[in-house]
Amino acid sequence: MTLIFAHRGSSGTHPENTMLAFKEAARVGADGIEMDVQLSKDGEVVIIHDEKLDRITGTPGFVSDRTLKELQTLNAAQSFKGKVAKERIPTLEELLIWLCNNHLFCNIELKNTFFMYPGLEEKVIQLIRAYGMEERIVISSFNHYSLVYCHQLAPEIETAPLYRDGLFMPWVYARAIGGSAIHPSIHSAPDRIIQSSMKAGILVRPYTINKKPDMERLYGLGCSAIITDFPEKAKKVRINFEN
Ligand code: G3P
Ligand code: CA
Repeated sequence: MTLIFAHRGSSGTHPENTMLAFKEAARVGADGIEMDVQLSKDGEVVIIHDEKLDRITGTPGFVSDRTLKELQTLNAAQSFKGKVAKERIPTLEELLIWLCNNHLFCNIELKNTFFMYPGLEEKVIQLIRAYGMEERIVISSFNHYSLVYCHQLAPEIETAPLYRDGLFMPWVYARAIGGSAIHPSIHSAPDRIIQSSMKAGILVRPYTINKKPDMERLYGLGCSAIITDFPEKAKKVRINFEN
């Protein structure tokens, strides 16, 4: 059965990358969650998508220029102001502690293409190991050098290259960099690529799958997982594909 990963949590209905959005994903029965991590100025692994703070928090400046304490004074639910109470930017550790109490899979995307964040890989892996989450985590990134490094540091943790533009034989490429899955944009995930990858033993988790026809196509193919902003909707659509 195709698994459902909630993109930045249930971000279509709740403020992205907040504990509120992750808890909503669990509540509606998602199989996993996806999130984005960066480093604060004082080297803490924080969960936030953009390198700039303005879209998420309404505050100027970069994530990397603020300490954790400073970041946690901001409201990560700024775009839902008036609808939900203030939400802190979570740390990866906070999320992993919460994951200890459920069975969700977790896709940690390293946001290290704009800023490289030296030490991010080591810190993320140290946290995953500290909480014994190796079996439930996949690390992804658009920075494939970083994924190779992760695989060298922790071959027991799954890695998956993210990509937007079509790759030739991505299952071969994924293996070459130590990956066991691919995370293509929906625009780079035609049927034949999904089928060939899965046949070669490479899992396929396209993003961001929000439309019913796209969900139906991927469920029909038995695609490994989808990454969606709307896990509740994805669950409802999946019912027709369950045996
Ligand atoms: O992991 C899938 C997707 O999150 C990658 O793109 O920009 O939403 O982080 P983005
Ligand atoms: Ca992401």
